[in-house]
Amino acid sequence: MIRAAHFLVFLPLAACAGPQSALAPGGLSADRILTLATTMFIGGAIIFAGVLIVLFLAMAGPKRFRDAMGKEETVFWTGVVFPIVTLSLLLLYGLAVMANPDGGAQDPSETIHVSGERWWWRIAYLDESGEVQFETANEIRLPENRTAQLLLTSPDVIHSIWIPPLGGKVDLIPGRQNELTLTPRKTGVFRGQCAEYCGGAHALMALDVIVMTEDEFDAWRANMQTPPASPETPLAREGRDLFLDAGCPACHAIRGTPANGRVGPDLTNLGQRLTIGAGTLPNTDEARRLWIAANQHVKPSNNMPPFVFLTERQLYAISAYLGGLKEERG
Ligand code: CUA
Repeated sequence: MIRAAHFLVFLPLAACAGPQSALAPGGLSADRILTLATTMFIGGAIIFAGVLIVLFLAMAGPKRFRDAMGKEETVFWTGVVFPIVTLSLLLLYGLAVMANPDGGAQDPSETIHVSGERWWWRIAYLDESGEVQFETANEIRLPENRTAQLLLTSPDVIHSIWIPPLGGKVDLIPGRQNELTLTPRKTGVFRGQCAEYCGGAHALMALDVIVMTEDEFDAWRANMQTPPASPETPLAREGRDLFLDAGCPACHAIRGTPANGRVGPDLTNLGQRLTIGAGTLPNTDEARRLWIAANQHVKPSNNMPPFVFLTERQLYAISAYLGGLKEERG
């Protein structure tokens, strides 16, 4: 019986798991936000049920009860005092959680600058003095059980970053810097999304957040500081030369090469990313070729021109080069 009740209650919630669910928290803030939401929901449900019972009794209950309900004091206590006290307590509780959702977290071990671009995420890992150590895009890697501070800005329009399993939603506003503190509590891949309409490709402005063990993260972070090795295969070498000649460096940077464009995403470790086009396609060879040749079809109104003049062979070569850009170096 209990099992059946359990099944009925949780079956609809099974659809609420997954990498982008606020109901499956993987971090400190998300945990506290879920507790706040559950408290509000259960509290609201209990009060709602109480109101329905009283309403029913007021219409069809015994006369004694109906008389009591009609008294001025009853209206004063249940209609004025009760809502003021209950709502004030809930408000104070909510404000306390929202003011510091990561409350109890240690000092940040990692400071990451996240800039909302149209329509992708520029990610820069900073050193102790606040200088950029290396840049990446559309993917944030974080260590488990450590606190990371995200500094949020935007050069032009307002975006909002929301990684539901890890924390709350915070806007990226031109001319100011907001902060979001995250303390992931389990490893895995989480998905975030721009949560504020920011123009053309807003709906395809997602990002992956990969939470790694502390050791894995430290190794990745150290590797990211050296440029990727030169391409190994002839096809990838051909791809590198094409990349440098076809105009790609005007927008994209790849550390260790002359490509140092700032308009589009940094591609230095593209081969290791899970997705391309800011969470639009899985990072496969086929998807990379499709993106280069037909990105306006895949993600309409993004700012990259489609490279329709490239031959099939050239697309294979550039994709091989980009797919081989990895930070894993021994
Ligand atoms: Cu960026 Cu919506």
